[in-house]
Amino acid sequence: MATTIAKLAYKTLQQGKSIAGLAHKEISSKLMESFFPEAIPKSEPISKELFMKLRASIEELERLDWSDAEKGLYPKSQLFEAPWLNWARKYPLVWLDMPSTWQRRVGKKTRDIPKKVNKGKYPDYYLQNFHHQTDGYLSDYSASLYDLQVEILFNGTADSMRRRIISPLKEGLGKYKDRKPESIRILDLATGTGRSLTQIKSAFPKADLFGVDLSSSYLRQAATYLNTRNNDLVQLIRSNAEDMPLADSSMQAITCVFLFHELPPKARQNVLNECYRVLETGGCLVIADSIQINDSPEFLPIMDGFHQSFHEPYYKDYINDDIEKRLIESGFSFISAQSYFMTRVWSAVKD
Ligand SMILES: C[S@@+](CC[C@H](N)C(=O)[O-])C[C@H]1O[C@@H](n2cnc3c(N)ncnc32)[C@H](O)[C@@H]1O
Repeated sequence: MATTIAKLAYKTLQQGKSIAGLAHKEISSKLMESFFPEAIPKSEPISKELFMKLRASIEELERLDWSDAEKGLYPKSQLFEAPWLNWARKYPLVWLDMPSTWQRRVGKKTRDIPKKVNKGKYPDYYLQNFHHQTDGYLSDYSASLYDLQVEILFNGTADSMRRRIISPLKEGLGKYKDRKPESIRILDLATGTGRSLTQIKSAFPKADLFGVDLSSSYLRQAATYLNTRNNDLVQLIRSNAEDMPLADSSMQAITCVFLFHELPPKARQNVLNECYRVLETGGCLVIADSIQINDSPEFLPIMDGFHQSFHEPYYKDYINDDIEKRLIESGFSFISAQSYFMTRVWSAVKD
């Protein structure tokens, strides 16, 4: 009985988020048409057939999400976890922020970064307004709106997609079952505001957790979610994932969610090489990022629409990139990959 109610609650929550996301986009499109018609992206409308395929793949994603919670890969409470009150408070700001986003799109302003930012601390490719985000990743204001904006972008499926890393992570760490759980070190790369670290923490409550990101602001936001309660400190490190201040072979697992599509090709390879260096032999890497043309050709109109609507300078190259080849080039073996709705998940082992 309790399980049936929880499952119904999960489905209702997901439907509610989906309706809210679609309604938000519908109203914002109407506003854009009225006030910024020149900002309307030139993407093709979605056909009914494609819409049905998208719907089916969301349902499959949510079925797997529920099933993994039922299997005990993560607690069911994780399915409902979100800073709801904070998001409710921030929602009006998402609306207020929109006109500046449209202005940047119309004016093709893609490097509108706060003046006080010390540019020498970042690679040049990073100093941009990815998705026309106000301040790029370089302000507390941007960090405070990001989670909610992503939730809306993916119609409430973002966390379910992020959670697809947990099952391969459990599998990859299975080889360490004879070690004490607290001796297992897991690093989340480009952790941003820490959504995936929150999920990893609930699935591996005793593990020693680390997060790396280039943005002080996003890490500060992550710290408010991860390091407030009376539990072990999650160690957050501001660093370029291409060159981390971490010892060789110091991690048993590394995860990385939604980073690779925002990196130029050379940086993608550098990050994979760095993951290989930092993992201990036998350790696993789990990456979740956008689907690509080869694995999901039926969703090509969505991928095209994404980089036409948002400033995503490396996305076109990314969707054509061969990540498996790159993993092999870095030295990884036992590579597998699977797609779920808009996300592809790779797992690989340092053999
Ligand atoms: C699209 S966000 C994804 C954040 C988070 N993983 C999530 O699931 O929402 C990309 C993140 O990558 C970070 N980032 C981009 N390039 C980076 C680099 N070279 N090294 C470390 N972090 C980087 C950004 O600061 C941002 O937080």
